[in-house]
Amino acid sequence: MSTWSPARIIGTVPVEEDGSAFFKVPADVPVYFQALDENLLEVRRMRTFVTLQRGEVRGCTGCHETRDEAPQALMKVPKALAKESVYPEPPSWGSTTLPDYEAHIHPIIVNNCQPCHGEKNPAAGLEFSSRRVDGYYQAYRTMFGLSADAPTPVQELAAFEMNQGKGHNVVVDREALRMMERNEYPGQLITISNKFGDNSVTEVRQFGSGNSPLIKALLSEAHLQHVKLSDKDWEDLVTWIDVNAPYWGTFIDKEPVREGEKPQRLKIQIGQPFGLENE
Ligand code: HEC
Ligand code: HEC
Repeated sequence: MSTWSPARIIGTVPVEEDGSAFFKVPADVPVYFQALDENLLEVRRMRTFVTLQRGEVRGCTGCHETRDEAPQALMKVPKALAKESVYPEPPSWGSTTLPDYEAHIHPIIVNNCQPCHGEKNPAAGLEFSSRRVDGYYQAYRTMFGLSADAPTPVQELAAFEMNQGKGHNVVVDREALRMMERNEYPGQLITISNKFGDNSVTEVRQFGSGNSPLIKALLSEAHLQHVKLSDKDWEDLVTWIDVNAPYWGTFIDKEPVREGEKPQRLKIQIGQPFGLENE
């Protein structure tokens, strides 16, 4: 899906039994938090960036309690404070790369889902195949409710880019894209955060892996018996969903389009989150 801005994953940190965690975040970089359960599924996400300066120490308490409650909440010393703060553990693709469906997620689908959900006679009619439809793997389209013969809904810029190639069945359909962004598209198997939503308090497991039919299916008895993802594959899959399941880890450079040339896909270079201090 589309995103406002490139989001890389800095990493995951352990949470103590009392719910506390003590960890480092990079300085001068906007960060946001997601609370995960023991299966690494999202419970809730903070949709606002926080930026800390070098040497700054901050707690969630204070922002997240009323002025009356904050001092009481801190009467009990959080368990995590008994140890040193930790560096977050990055996902398998690292913390300087944007997650990319083709590079990081599709191989997991090929190995674990295609035996039953391939192009021919897919189980439950869900085709997680490697055939390309309008330039995308059908497996990804299926995750957003698009059958192989449905046109691909895109925005104007993508339509411009794709119409340069032959045989693409794309339509400029902002309404379909909005339905996907609101998790309302029929057959959608992945639940993403609604970028057009307001700032009202969210429900537990409203967004992300914790509410995605695809993940719920994998936790069903039938799948648990036949499909066993490695710990790495599971973490990669749910982490990618929690960063809103992007197809591209690259961006379209809009400049040439304005000058009437073919747009290009560019890789984004992101620095190490912690720089030299972590070496
Ligand atoms: C600078 C203040 C600030 C700090 C520090 C802060 N938060 Fe938040 N948090 C907010 C605001 C404002 C919101 C509401 C808007 C939103 O959902 O992003 C929020 C929302 C959230 C939500 C989503 C709840 C909802 O309304 O949907 C979670 C989860 C969350 N924060 C977790 C954390 C955790 C965990 C920490 C500490 C590691 C933390 N926050 C630190 C200000 C803060
Ligand atoms: C051993 C065969 C097999 C494998 C491997 C398999 N599935 Fe399935 N899947 C099925 C069958 C059979 C059904 C239909 C019955 C059911 O819903 O359990 C199904 C149904 C589904 C459904 C629909 C569930 C619903 O409630 O409508 C989803 C989503 C799904 N699979 C996702 C996946 C994903 C993702 C993978 C790979 C990580 C995968 N499956 C691997 C056999 C398999």
